[in-house]
Amino acid sequence: MGALMQVKIRDACPADAAGILAIHNHAVLETTAVWSDAASDLASRLAWLADRTGRGYPVLVAETAGEVVGYASFGDFRPWAGYRHTVENSIYLDPAVHRQGIGRALMETLIERGFSLNKHVMVAGIEATNIASIRLHLSVGFREVGRMPQVGCKFGRWLDLVFMQRTLMEEVAR
Ligand SMILES: CC(C)(COP(=O)(O)OP(=O)(O)OC[C@H]1O[C@@H](n2cnc3c(N)ncnc32)[C@H](O)[C@@H]1OP(=O)(O)O)[C@@H](O)C(=O)NCCC(=O)NCCS
Repeated sequence: MGALMQVKIRDACPADAAGILAIHNHAVLETTAVWSDAASDLASRLAWLADRTGRGYPVLVAETAGEVVGYASFGDFRPWAGYRHTVENSIYLDPAVHRQGIGRALMETLIERGFSLNKHVMVAGIEATNIASIRLHLSVGFREVGRMPQVGCKFGRWLDLVFMQRTLMEEVAR
């Protein structure tokens, strides 16, 4: 928990795209946290950042010693108008800083931002064996609302999806 004292959570700017890219590509190439096989590039991360912020959605980074060590964001859950009060989150950290409270700090700020934007529900879609993410979400007030067996595949195996959600009107967990 000592490292948490030196971590700053702030809005991302274009200069953070390279740090975001490195963390994103590690998740793509080494994990089943993101269900893509294709590494991204800087232009694509800059475009993603511009798209999210252009829609008024937050992209947060965790910075320590001047380095981006994690990021979190949310966007539309589904594109149709009836879903406009619901967002879906994403959160990724450099493996070197796992389990130091940084994920929880990012999530708590993300939840506050969702509340500020008058969003009603935040959804998380999590690969079923990703216990770290499931427990992180439980720790900030999410609950499991569904499991979809074998809806994904990566690294030659089927992946199950766990949906979790949290109503943002409820008091932010501390
Ligand atoms: C999931 C992730 C963001 C968690 O971030 P983190 O900074 O390591 O988590 P924190 O230290 O804030 O932990 C908060 C709580 O989550 C739970 N948790 C986190 N990591 C855990 C682990 N490896 N095993 C069990 N519980 C874990 C614990 O309840 C923890 O509280 P505690 O430390 O008081 O017990 C991080 O592991 C990560 O980036 N993983 C790879 C990318 C990923 O899976 N993203 C989510 C995609 S859905």
